[in-house]
Amino acid sequence: MSKIIVANWKLNPANQKEAKNLFDSVKKGVKKIKDVNIIICPPFVYLSSLKGLTLGAQNVFYKESGAFTGQVSTLMLKDLNVEYVIVGHSEVRKYFAETNQTINKKIKECLNAGLKIILCVGENDGEDKNNVLETQITEALENISENNLSEIIIAYEPIFAIGTGKNCSIEETKNSVSIIKNIISKLYSQESIDVIKILYGGSVNSANSGDYLKNAGVSGLLVGGASLNAEEFVKIVISSSI
Ligand code: PGA
Repeated sequence: MSKIIVANWKLNPANQKEAKNLFDSVKKGVKKIKDVNIIICPPFVYLSSLKGLTLGAQNVFYKESGAFTGQVSTLMLKDLNVEYVIVGHSEVRKYFAETNQTINKKIKECLNAGLKIILCVGENDGEDKNNVLETQITEALENISENNLSEIIIAYEPIFAIGTGKNCSIEETKNSVSIIKNIISKLYSQESIDVIKILYGGSVNSANSGDYLKNAGVSGLLVGGASLNAEEFVKIVISSSI
């Protein structure tokens, strides 16, 4: 199955021109690659000007409209041909107090609107991995039916590995992937683990990407810092092409 490579640009780049240049360079670099599902997640304000690759948003609000200053709805994202939304990123959990309950509302709103979801989960150093993953996944997916699992990608992003250069070992990633599958099989059916796609994220670069894809049991990667360099990001995409 095609691998999924997601670029999470976070709060970058600084202006429209640079965003367009980065996007166009990536587009050019991956032109001949057909067997990788590439998803670019720029800041909201650049979404309308970027065309030709699959787009994701970095966040969404859980209401369609109303008095919610500063928010962006699923309807607005659909209108811009956005296909995916990242929810539960550790930075949003940390700096904007996003809870599992809020994440659950966002997931339901996205599913209603026909948007696919990239749900980020992951523990920090010293935390009980099993416990953190179980709580995050169980609460985020509350009242979400098994039929919807094909629309949800889980990104395993241990916090200690994000933006630090200290990527999670292959062994530990593999172990986390099997813990996540186990949680999903307990919440749903045994077959559901063949449906759910799991990505790894955290200090991915072109030197380590191939190893994760070959040896960590993941369906793809969520790339932050390295996605801001077109050449580097294209190399990561190439490493995931069969
Ligand atoms: P990083 O970020 O690749 O810069 O570690 C990953 C992420 O936060 O999604």
